[in-house]
Amino acid sequence: MEKKFKRTLVTTALPYANGPVHIGHLAGVYVPADIYTRYMRLNGRDVVMIGGSDEHGVPITIKARNEGVTPQDIVDRYHKIIKDSFEEFGVSFDVYSRTTSDIHHDTASEFFERLYNNGQFVEQTSEQLYDPVAGQFLADRYVRGECPHCHNLNAYGDQCEVCGTSLSPSELINPRSALSDAVPELRQTHHWYLPLDRWQPALEKWILEGHKEWKSNVYGQCKSWLDLGLQPRAVSRDLDWGVPVPVEGAEGKVLYVWFDAPIGYISNTKEILPDSWEKYWKDPETRIINFIGKDNIVFHCIVFPSMLMAYGDNFQLPDNVPANEFLNLEGDKISTSRNWAIWLHEYLRDFPGKQDVLRYVLTANAPETKDNDFTWRDFQARNNNELVAILGNFVNRAIVLTHKYFDGIVPARGELQDVDINAIDDMKQTIARLTDNIETFHFREALKEAMNIARIGNKYLQDTEPWKLAKTDMARVATILNVAIQICGNIDIAFEPFTPFMSKKLAGMLHLEKLDWNELGSIDLVAPETQLAKPELLFEKIEDDAIQAQLDRLDNIRRENQIKNFKPREISPTIDFETFEKVDIRVGTVVECVPVKKSKKLLKFTINDGLSTRTILSGIAEHFKAEDLVGKQVTFVANLAPREIKGIVSEGMILSALNADGSLSLIAPATPSTPGANVC
Ligand code: MF3
Ligand code: ZN
Repeated sequence: MEKKFKRTLVTTALPYANGPVHIGHLAGVYVPADIYTRYMRLNGRDVVMIGGSDEHGVPITIKARNEGVTPQDIVDRYHKIIKDSFEEFGVSFDVYSRTTSDIHHDTASEFFERLYNNGQFVEQTSEQLYDPVAGQFLADRYVRGECPHCHNLNAYGDQCEVCGTSLSPSELINPRSALSDAVPELRQTHHWYLPLDRWQPALEKWILEGHKEWKSNVYGQCKSWLDLGLQPRAVSRDLDWGVPVPVEGAEGKVLYVWFDAPIGYISNTKEILPDSWEKYWKDPETRIINFIGKDNIVFHCIVFPSMLMAYGDNFQLPDNVPANEFLNLEGDKISTSRNWAIWLHEYLRDFPGKQDVLRYVLTANAPETKDNDFTWRDFQARNNNELVAILGNFVNRAIVLTHKYFDGIVPARGELQDVDINAIDDMKQTIARLTDNIETFHFREALKEAMNIARIGNKYLQDTEPWKLAKTDMARVATILNVAIQICGNIDIAFEPFTPFMSKKLAGMLHLEKLDWNELGSIDLVAPETQLAKPELLFEKIEDDAIQAQLDRLDNIRRENQIKNFKPREISPTIDFETFEKVDIRVGTVVECVPVKKSKKLLKFTINDGLSTRTILSGIAEHFKAEDLVGKQVTFVANLAPREIKGIVSEGMILSALNADGSLSLIAPATPSTPGANVC
């Protein structure tokens, strides 16, 4: 870092209080922000971490409407759930507030007023979509329709979730009201616009010239917005939920949620630092970092900075905006509406006390440069093979051996040998890379380096084998265990930003009082004569059945969604009765059923058709066990021309229904029938 900053303001995107938070939120924004903030604190730096719930906006009013409660009820409910989840996961906000607070309403109102009074808006009357049935204008998500870019039929009025394009409601093809499903009509309405085009040159200079170091996904998105040329953007909406537009004659209009929400960062800073908040926003020696997800880039890099410049008064722009890509879950996009997510409060119910494991896995797999996939198998593997087998194992061995040979009292070390010096050097180099990676927001790499310290520790014990030397050379054992315990101390500090709960527990065992990042690399962290506590396991193995239960839960959700979204195929062209009569459908009894060799799909049936027996092949082996079908009655097409498949002649076709979830149901008589009976 070339510039030395006096203090850092870390902001985290304010999550909408319209649902609980899930692993995608944690991975994309809150864990990285927390790692960085904890790291800064360990360095003794002046840092404040700001968070809060985003309680305005259409997703909240829609949810309230669907449930027949008020928007306030919705945000009260989810603000609490979200706040509790963050606390339980150790996300160490200095403030977690909400945008329905008085201080926020005042701050956002004042912000708008100042821009208004200084001529920073343009006012415009335009035609917008209006729902004649519900009697209101349809802002943002109140409209759905076909995306003009990718032709997704369910795009929202503000964004298409399939291709990611930002939209305005009037761009949608065949728009429908999300309130009443009515076809909207156009009506005139008046709004305030922030002319982003006025700020284009300043933004270009600031970002394109001044922040080439930003992550390429962030820089690239900004560049393409700027290359397209910025346009004025409406900052008000016709809604009854939000911060009222503080201008006379603006009844029924509120600030657009994306105008008020980022001001929430300021309001929340004011809330905890009523006397010194300005320092964190207006002093050029403050470094502002915005942690966000990729869908928030334009608002943080273009819109909010334009607002801050329009406000003037020395408001500082962010120095970095380390936006992440998205985390998927088992191959599918995380989605609140499809319940395709791992909710933090549910995770805690299923894996109590395992906050660090999730923090670890989400960081190890963070979507820093591209979308990434969370899978339960990977979660299990990283816990069992890394946290348990590498980190937990090393720390446990070092402490257990110290108990075994020195009653848990850390021995003083004698002269260091090459093997000791090499391990310590290795550790120091690893720590340098770790620090470098955190400074540049590469937390995945940083975590890998932290884990490498534990690897170095394991290798050190493997190479020195103190358990063998214990018979001959206790002085050497003392040195080795002293060094091993110092490595444990280093692990404790290095992991604190990532897995704070483990770190606290380990610090208790080692009697480390105050952790200091600047002491990393030291081999005098734990003084000789320190009485170590009894070793406790830092991580425990996660068994297959716990993982299977999660996979089963997701399978059920996938199935429920398939059933919910099932659209029967169009009916085939009409046939006349004579044509239908030609098809001879019969009841038969399965005499024998065996899988066809070298085929995954085929079962070979021997069917009693009342006249004799016949062979029918059916491609349903993935759905049924052959032996379960013996003795069952089925229906089959009896006069289908025989076909040879895999050297076997099939004389008919067994009937089954293909269900919405991809499973099959055999079509059998509802009451016992007679083999050979006609189905008509
Ligand atoms: N609520 C928004 C979202 O979830 C983020 C708001 S960030 C802030 O996408 F800057 F507006 F606060
Ligand atoms: Zn699209």
